[in-house]
Amino acid sequence: MDLKELYRDVILDHNRHPRNFGRIEPADGRAEGHNPLCGDRLSVFVVLDGERVADIRFEGRGCAISTASASLMTEAVKGKDRTAIRALFDKVHALLTHPDAAPDGALGKLAALAGVREFPVRVKCASLCWHTLNAALEHGAATISTE
Ligand code: FES
Repeated sequence: MDLKELYRDVILDHNRHPRNFGRIEPADGRAEGHNPLCGDRLSVFVVLDGERVADIRFEGRGCAISTASASLMTEAVKGKDRTAIRALFDKVHALLTHPDAAPDGALGKLAALAGVREFPVRVKCASLCWHTLNAALEHGAATISTE
């Protein structure tokens, strides 16, 4: 199996079986993200322990990329503090937008998003959950649009 197939399988698996899917009530932070290109929305809920994300869930309906990206994100950020999450987001963003960015070892399964950059219109699908998480961490409760 080559890397492209492996990445595709990770995306398919996380779309079919999203991890950490659902709501958290009450949550310390929650935000709803909206992709104006397609109308899809997703919500992110976080429970904080100081600076650390102790628990995270998401819900919403979106395309395979947005669902898989949110699922991968929740696995990757659970247990991390805000600084580490920001650093991870910077790596994901570079992976999605820089044509030559090589997947960094710190990305783990998030490296599966590398194929998305071949489809620029889908970059918003993959980054929607991250912008929504940032809003939940910064504002406590927010609705954002990725315009
Ligand atoms: Fe709507 Fe991907 S098509 S989030």
